[in-house]
Amino acid sequence: MTDVADQPTTPGDDRPVLTTRQGHPVHDNQNQRTVGARGPATLENYQLLEKISHFDRERIPERVVHARGAVAFGTFEATGRWGDEPIARYTRAKLFQEAGARTEVAVRFSTVIGGRDSSEAARDPRGFAVKFYTEDGNWDLVGNNLGVFFIRDAIKFPDVIHALKPDPVTFRQEPARIFDFMSQTPEAMHMLVNLFSPRGIPATYRTQQGFGVNTYRWVNADGVTHLVKYHWVPSAGVKSLTGADAAAIQAGDLGHASKDLYDAIEAGDFPEWELRVQLMTDGEHPELDFDPLDDTKVWPENDFPPRPVGRMVLDRNVTNHHTQNEQIAFGTGVLVDGLDFSDDKMLVGRTFSYSDTQRYRVGPNYLQLPVNQPQAPVRTNQQGGPMAYHVDPTGSNPHVNYEPSITGGLREAPSPAHDEQGPEVVGRLTRARLPRTDDYTQAGQRYQLMEPWEQDDLVGNLVDGIGEAVREVQERMVWHFLMCDDELGRRVGEGLGLTADDVRHLPPLAGQTLSDDELARLANLG
Ligand code: HEM
Repeated sequence: MTDVADQPTTPGDDRPVLTTRQGHPVHDNQNQRTVGARGPATLENYQLLEKISHFDRERIPERVVHARGAVAFGTFEATGRWGDEPIARYTRAKLFQEAGARTEVAVRFSTVIGGRDSSEAARDPRGFAVKFYTEDGNWDLVGNNLGVFFIRDAIKFPDVIHALKPDPVTFRQEPARIFDFMSQTPEAMHMLVNLFSPRGIPATYRTQQGFGVNTYRWVNADGVTHLVKYHWVPSAGVKSLTGADAAAIQAGDLGHASKDLYDAIEAGDFPEWELRVQLMTDGEHPELDFDPLDDTKVWPENDFPPRPVGRMVLDRNVTNHHTQNEQIAFGTGVLVDGLDFSDDKMLVGRTFSYSDTQRYRVGPNYLQLPVNQPQAPVRTNQQGGPMAYHVDPTGSNPHVNYEPSITGGLREAPSPAHDEQGPEVVGRLTRARLPRTDDYTQAGQRYQLMEPWEQDDLVGNLVDGIGEAVREVQERMVWHFLMCDDELGRRVGEGLGLTADDVRHLPPLAGQTLSDDELARLANLG
């Protein structure tokens, strides 16, 4: 039956008819209902009220970090082995077992500090978050394009982000505030040497690396655990921008990286990455000069060779920004059997934070949204809450939304073999730094490994930024960089009009414990 509302308004116009959210046809979308042509509106004007009030609620809070991003979909294909060795020796996670096994993925790339419409050419880490829709439920690998982070304890995250975000008074990102904080945070030096080098402005999302950054665990079928770090390597190579290149791009387009990704996929030029893992036996590794649970450190590739475990190709763009980008929700707690947490003190804080913010930002039923729903069956006794979209099936008896029950409902799954896993952990409750901090060696090595133009770019960018801070902060930053590498410290100092002699008198920071090697370095600073 054709409703009168579906009859063409103009002969030959067979486009579908506009309705209200209640399904009522809209006969006039240009004029509100009023008493007389010039008269007052009436409150029963449902169509107008619905349209305006829905518009008023179009935005959800933007992410507190990583607000601007681009999403694409694709497939991950496992290698199943490296050389003769099956990956099953290290993890029982199903998605990695068979060569050629494919898992659907959603990926969100992002900048960190700017708001939802900010520039994608900013000097800023880039997010690289992957949701694997596995047969065992979802696995999220929430990483960045730089292999290390500013801090190693989650309790400092709000502070580092406040320092990097706009000033609460001027609402400008202020290098003086950033370096004020960093000068008191020696563990940030390795990240700063990366961030202020050209790597701090990836050219596009398609040409950036990804790193899990935090240390996770792999568990095999016998319950044996290994520590693991994840790396994504782009097939198109890694490309970065200098500050000048970035400024030129930003002058014409704030969203060049989202556009590049979208256009490439539309043109059939599908971006791809190889996933590699570094593995370490599970333990403290006292022989290393860093702690394997310290996310300000990389694991040397000579000792811990990255091994390919699969390839990811992105071949599908979003069909809607809001439902697939704004509302997609990743978290470090979203793991499948065979993949686990470590005691990394950042990871534990992150794991709380993601789902906490998503319950606020998207709503308590955010996991019912199609982009977040696992492709594995979901059966819970959770119910209600704002925007509950459906009720999970609870089995034969719809009255039983609890467990245990002898009259129906859901049952527990059998325990996986070797549910107890990993080394035994014993200790007193305390608040303490990791014993091996070694905040400077790897930052110095990173500088030494750069090409000369990258070193020049790094020094120039650091001098520009630190130059805006007060003199005490400048002195402390030169002190830190001298501790990392003589040349780096000298060159940053030169740019700021400071020599090693100007900063030699500075004592270590309060609470900073220097190793014997570091004390020797301090005695011969510069
Ligand atoms: C996003 C917290 C460290 C990568 C977020 C969000 C929060 C958060 C609250 C917003 C999530 C949302 O609204 O959906 C934290 C905390 C950290 C931390 C508390 C430290 C304790 C890190 C580190 C990395 C990282 C070390 C890199 C490995 C990301 C990425 C996103 C994100 C990629 C964006 C996810 C997306 O695209 O939706 N983080 N973060 N974060 N974080 Fe972290």
